[in-house]
Amino acid sequence: MAVIENSKVTIVGAGSVGASTAYAALIRGSARHVALYDIATAKVDAEVLDLAHGTQFTGRSDITGGSDISVAEGSHVIVITAGAKQDPGQTRIDLAAVNAGILHRMLPDLLGVAPNAIYVIVTNPCDVLTVRAQHETGLPPERIFASGTVLDTSRLRWKLAQRAGVSTSSVHAYIVGEHGDTEFPLWSRATIGTVPIREWQAAGHPPMTQTELDEIAVDVRDAAYKVIQGKGATNYAIGLSSARIIEAILGDEHAVMPVSTVLRDFHGVDGVALSVPSIVSASGATPVRETTFSDDELALFQRSAAAIHDVARTLP
Ligand code: 2OP
Repeated sequence: MAVIENSKVTIVGAGSVGASTAYAALIRGSARHVALYDIATAKVDAEVLDLAHGTQFTGRSDITGGSDISVAEGSHVIVITAGAKQDPGQTRIDLAAVNAGILHRMLPDLLGVAPNAIYVIVTNPCDVLTVRAQHETGLPPERIFASGTVLDTSRLRWKLAQRAGVSTSSVHAYIVGEHGDTEFPLWSRATIGTVPIREWQAAGHPPMTQTELDEIAVDVRDAAYKVIQGKGATNYAIGLSSARIIEAILGDEHAVMPVSTVLRDFHGVDGVALSVPSIVSASGATPVRETTFSDDELALFQRSAAAIHDVARTLP
């Protein structure tokens, strides 16, 4: 991928998600300049060194960073991954209070050095934190949004591609709603190629039944718990998802991606951040208002909104 000249992304947080995001961005050439910031000096300096030592092999992107907020100076995109992560058995919502506090303390300093950046919140619960961050910063909703269900949608497309025997890029399906336990697939609009998902008949494979589709949806919803149980965290897929979002912004791609923005009068949802297919470009993320929902899907969407609203309003 051609690197956008003088483009700069700063990734905040040098934990496994932040370091993996930086690594993915370097390998993919997501930005000309990748910076990694963390308050833990020894940790961030070591991550930057380890990443820099491999840049002979990563093309034209470079890596800098450290524990001084000035490393984020002039960033076009800021990706926030800093915060507590889920322990086995914990939900993303369990992290809301502690991570809201971390963001509350960090955002003013970031806005001071990167006032014009697009802010992407990866830290969980990313939808709840986006509601709070948008309110606290006063940035327009399109300029501060969450990675949302870009990762979940990638998980869904992988599962469906495996089942249907096709390339992942030929699976057109989205997970929408909360990046969490109330997320759900928009089956009503899911296709493989141009074929509606329930009508796909791969060689030797019968069509997918609703029971099978429901099982896939549960596998996707619970995927993170399974990975966290086994290795303590998820990092590679969220790192790649975040790098892809960075590219869509810096490349002014106008790519349709299920990121999470604070919605305004969207199918009855207002003031809550949820993932719906959105146009991602240099100006940020704009929900596609023409997105349609079946009656059942609309009920699930509003249930997801209620879940996020309830948590966001209980935060201190
Ligand atoms: C994930 O879904 C934990 O939100 C993270 O992998």
